[in-house]
Amino acid sequence: MSDPESDPASDPELEAELDLAVASAAAAGMVLEMADGVLELRLPGERPGGGVRSEIESALVRRLESGHPLRRIVQGLGETPGVILDLTGGLGADTAVAAASSSSRRVVTCERHPVVAALLQDGRRRAVAAGLEPANRIEVHHGDALSRLRGEGDPPALVMIDPMFPPRRKSSALPPKPMQRLRSLLHDAATDVDVEVRELLVAAERVDAGRIVLKRPPDAMVPDTSLGPPTFEISTKLLRWSVWERRAANDA
Ligand SMILES: C[S@@+](CC[C@H](N)C(=O)[O-])C[C@H]1O[C@@H](n2cnc3c(N)ncnc32)[C@H](O)[C@@H]1O
Repeated sequence: MSDPESDPASDPELEAELDLAVASAAAAGMVLEMADGVLELRLPGERPGGGVRSEIESALVRRLESGHPLRRIVQGLGETPGVILDLTGGLGADTAVAAASSSSRRVVTCERHPVVAALLQDGRRRAVAAGLEPANRIEVHHGDALSRLRGEGDPPALVMIDPMFPPRRKSSALPPKPMQRLRSLLHDAATDVDVEVRELLVAAERVDAGRIVLKRPPDAMVPDTSLGPPTFEISTKLLRWSVWERRAANDA
């Protein structure tokens, strides 16, 4: 694992990952480059500063409302030992909220797409440089979450799953341009999201995670697995957080 404070310019491992990410963005007809010290993904010709960037720093700077569903889910872990594993890192907003919702827990965030993983690494680096303490406890794993889960030694306290950006509803406005760009980069017609969710849930159960949370749009299905129905759910207008509580906090 690379040092959290590393700069790609001085860390050969990160530099190689960044080179791969730049090539991968170019192959998708996009540009991945620094603008004012921030790594961002843009369309060619688009003005610097308007691209997609990691949300780790912005999520940590924003004041966390105590009612944030993830905050409640993380705080409910109590003294349960283990890391938080975010299997679907994306731009890192949920990872950041999870890290900020505890004072000492490590959060490992997995991301398989090289461009998104590079954005995440950059977001963590900037947040550490800005002195945002929770960022020191975030580790970015570039690779598939299933292989990371299989290699996990001790059972994680919490496994988080947010499989794909929710599909656009007919009635809603188009998402912001950067988000449309990210969706087009990640869209893979061959991927069956429901099958993937199922695999991730089964793997999380196998490593004996204390809690598992699945974040999906309210009308998305929750796959049937040996976990059975969720222990509880928190619903907002746009999202549903399904939680399987497998060890009560005081069983730790
Ligand atoms: C909806 S986004 C997650 C958004 C994230 N929760 C946030 O706050 O920004 C889903 C991300 O998970 C990644 N992903 C999906 N399945 C994965 C897997 N099996 N291993 C690693 N990354 C995965 C996708 O590449 C995508 O970037």
